[in-house]
Amino acid sequence: MLQLISIRYKLFMSNWTSGYVADIGYTYGYYKELNPQRASLAFLNAGYVPPSLGTHCELGFGQGLSVNIHAAASGSIWYGNDFNPSQAAFAQSLAASSGADAHLTDEAFKDFCNRTDLPEFDSIGLHGIWSWISDENRAIIVDFIRRKLKVGGVLYISYNTLPGWASFAPMRHLMTAYSSSQTANDLGILNKIQNSLAFADKLIQSQPQFIKSNPSIVFKLEKFKEQNPRYLAHEFFNKDWHPMYFSTVAEQLNSAKVEFVCSAHYLDFVDVINLTPVQSNLLNEISDLNFRESVRDFMINQQFRREYWVKGPQKLTKFQQLNLISKHRVVLTSPKSEIELKVSGNAGQANLSDAIYSPILDTLSDFEIASIEQISIAVSKFEINFDQVVQSLIILIGAGYVHSAQDETEIQKSLEITKKLNLKILQRSLFSGDILCLASPITGGAIPVNRFQQLFLFSINNGKPDPSEWARAAWSTLKSEKQRLVKEGITLESEDDNLNELEIQAQNFAITRLPILKALKVA
Ligand SMILES: C[S@@+](CC[C@H](N)C(=O)[O-])C[C@H]1O[C@@H](n2cnc3c(N)ncnc32)[C@H](O)[C@@H]1O
Repeated sequence: MLQLISIRYKLFMSNWTSGYVADIGYTYGYYKELNPQRASLAFLNAGYVPPSLGTHCELGFGQGLSVNIHAAASGSIWYGNDFNPSQAAFAQSLAASSGADAHLTDEAFKDFCNRTDLPEFDSIGLHGIWSWISDENRAIIVDFIRRKLKVGGVLYISYNTLPGWASFAPMRHLMTAYSSSQTANDLGILNKIQNSLAFADKLIQSQPQFIKSNPSIVFKLEKFKEQNPRYLAHEFFNKDWHPMYFSTVAEQLNSAKVEFVCSAHYLDFVDVINLTPVQSNLLNEISDLNFRESVRDFMINQQFRREYWVKGPQKLTKFQQLNLISKHRVVLTSPKSEIELKVSGNAGQANLSDAIYSPILDTLSDFEIASIEQISIAVSKFEINFDQVVQSLIILIGAGYVHSAQDETEIQKSLEITKKLNLKILQRSLFSGDILCLASPITGGAIPVNRFQQLFLFSINNGKPDPSEWARAAWSTLKSEKQRLVKEGITLESEDDNLNELEIQAQNFAITRLPILKALKVA
């Protein structure tokens, strides 16, 4: 009888998961590209009318950190689903704490997308979903976008891409075949992954011709060993894993009536860090935007695309474009002292001109919101022109040093809700270090805040003004978990060393990060 129950349970499990990894939860990542607010400057830069803000949807939200942060910090209405009930429960618990207008369910795509009570959306986002699901689920999502994305609405989508994964695909195939046929069923996914990686090592040592023809696989497998096994499980060990050409995605999305607008990864806008001059010239000869993207993917051996599509794109005139860009508001989110005037792309690293970037950063160094026009006026005495300001801000946003800022109405609407969400995350830092950001009503998205900093903020919220007290409270949490700090690769063993290090970090936090977090209304 017992055996019968367990067999039934397994059948039930495989019914709702459709071969998707479900026996361990996903990581607690935050994905800024899902923030509709972030799409605006990308659209303006590409010369298109930016999308409206209002009602949004995230499909397959994972642990739901992004959807919760966006719902709280933008004050807008969000819907979302993820068929993993543990993940949906966590996401719902965050929403219940903040009181955000977030409607989060554990429905599968086929159920959620066919609901008759859903509104039309200003944006639909799916991060890390498209190339990890079946053809059937992709068709359901395309139909959902066709019916439910408003005219003018934006689609954010990311997926594993060809040709970047072409050489690795057979290796992934072999590892999942090993995991399903050569390991015991009840081993658990994490052990199965360990065994598959060990088998891959053995295979490599046998020097197969396949590895000789594709040597980069060895390097890739080494990188896997450094990654969170939860991430590896969801990334590579599902039944479905279908990296795609951009042109295939374009064909599939065609019936949803959306058109490609631009990358959602701001550093992609900067050719000099991604392409050689010869490659840039070749691309400039191609007028078909979609074919151009396919050729570019070959040039950089693209593995992962993050992109914005729109239903009914509307081109701006040059005058409208300049006018809207001038009014766009941004805010500095890192101290100037921590900003490296370097940026990396596919073609290597480029130095950013101190003569241009320093005056721009100085203008923003009070951490107040400024419009691009205000910045441009402030730095004109240094002979920095408007285009240079825009180009620099795009790079600074791409590197995560600057963020777009919301309108005052949205900021006011989201102040209280964000505070409640952040409090819940800070309370969680007392027993877990898996969430590494907090929400900002200024940006409508998340700002990186590590666990120690969260513990310090928790103490501040509890009325402790002195960094030494923050350090002591953080240490008592870490000590109760038998954790030790690691400094320059060395574990600090004694209580004094740990406390001293935490005190240094607390003092530093008080001087450099806290004023910024206050300006961003995170603290
Ligand atoms: C790779 S994870 C990405 C999660 C999240 N978007 C992120 O990036 O953090 C894919 C997610 O899709 C969910 N998922 C997979 N198939 C699904 C389906 N048929 N219906 C609903 N959710 C599904 C999984 O539970 C998982 O949380």
